[in-house]
Amino acid sequence: MSSKKLTCVCLAFFLVSCQFFRLQAQLQVGYYSTSCSMAEFIVKEEVTKGFMSDNGMAAGLVRMHFHDCFVRGCDGSVLIDSTPSNTAEKDAPPNNPSLRGFQIIDNAKARLESVCKGTVSCADIIAFAARDSTELTHGIGWDVPAGRKDGRVSLASEALANLPAPTFNLNQLTQSFASKGLTQEEMVTLSGAHTIGRSHCTSFVTRLYNFNTTLGQDPTLDASYATQLRQQCPQGSTNPNLVVPMDPSSPNTMDTGYYVDVQANHGLFTSDQALLADAATANQVTQNAMNTFLWQSKFANAMVKMGYTGVLTGNAGEVRLNCRKIN
Ligand code: HEM
Ligand SMILES: *[C@@H]1O[C@H](CO)[C@@H](O)[C@H](O)[C@H]1NC(C)=O
Repeated sequence: MSSKKLTCVCLAFFLVSCQFFRLQAQLQVGYYSTSCSMAEFIVKEEVTKGFMSDNGMAAGLVRMHFHDCFVRGCDGSVLIDSTPSNTAEKDAPPNNPSLRGFQIIDNAKARLESVCKGTVSCADIIAFAARDSTELTHGIGWDVPAGRKDGRVSLASEALANLPAPTFNLNQLTQSFASKGLTQEEMVTLSGAHTIGRSHCTSFVTRLYNFNTTLGQDPTLDASYATQLRQQCPQGSTNPNLVVPMDPSSPNTMDTGYYVDVQANHGLFTSDQALLADAATANQVTQNAMNTFLWQSKFANAMVKMGYTGVLTGNAGEVRLNCRKIN
C-alpha cells in the first residue's frame, strides 16, 4: 500500500472512531475525577444536608432532573432566573410554585466554585443530585455519566410545551416520552418516581369536582379515595399551598407503592391512572408492583438514559458560574 493510501485509510479510521466515541461517550462516568475530584462528594453532602432539614427535597431534586432534561435537554436551563425581559422555565406553571430544591443546587455550586472554579456544570449537579436523592430515599443508585455543559437559553413557553401534563392520556404520555427518545416502558418506569413527594391540590382537583359536563368526579378514581382527597382539597379552596402526598403510605421511600396505588385506582393524576389503559402498560404496572428490585433497577437505567437527553458537550454551551444566570 502506498503511504498516501495508508494515510487515507488511517484518517478514515480515525474519523469513524471519532464519530463512534462522540455517540458512545459524549458523557463519561467519573468525568470530574481529575478536574474536580471532590465534585460528586460535595454534591452528595449538600443534598444530604438539604434532605436532613426537609426530606421532601429528594422528590424535588428527582423531579428537577426530569424537568431539566425534557426542556432543551439536560442543560441546567431549569435553574436560570427570569429577568425583566425573559420569563424563564422555572416560572412556567409546571414549575412555579411546585418545583423545589433550587437552594440545594446553589449551595453545592457555591462550594464547587470555591474549590474548582468554572469546572462543574449546573446540569451535572442536577444529575448527581437526582441520583443522590434516589439513594437517600432507599432507591438503587447509579453511576452518573457526566460532562454536560450548561445552556444559555430558558423560556417558560418551552417548559409548557415540553412537559407532559397530569391530564394526559396514555397516547399523549407515550408520545411525549417518545419525542425525547424514551420508550413507553421507560415512561411507565419513570412515572414510578411518583412514589415519593407530593402534589398541590391544584394539579388534580378537576378530577374531584369538574371532571366533565355530566360527571363531577372522575369515575376511574377509587370512590373512597376520592372522598378522602375531597377532604384534603376542599372545593373552591383559595389556598394555593394545599398539598397531598402522592403515595400516602410511604411518601419518602423509593418503593413500588406507586404501582400498588395505581392498581387500586389511587393514582393521583389522570396520567398515573392512564397506565392501566392498555394491556402492555398495565402488565408493567403489575410487574413493578410485585418486584421492588426489578423496578428500582429499571428506574436507575431509565434515569441514566433520560440524562443523555439533548445534552450539550465539548465546546457547546458553558459552565455557568452561578446556576441562576448565564455567564
Ligand atoms: C409521566 C408524566 C408525568 C406527569 C404528567 C407528571 C406530573 C406531575 C405533577 C402534576 C406533579 C405535582 C406537582 C405539584 O403540584 O406539586 C408531579 C410531582 C412529581 N413528579 Fe411528576 N410527572 C410525570 C413524570 C415524572 C417523572 C418522569 C419524574 C422523575 C423521573 C417525576 C417526578 C416527580 C416527583 C418526584 C414529584 C414530587 C415532587 C415534589 O414532591 O416536590 N414525574 N409530577
Ligand atoms: C363524562 O365522562 C364519562 C366517563 O368517562 C363518559 O362516559 C361521559 O360520556 C362523559 N361526558 C361527556 C359529556 O363527555
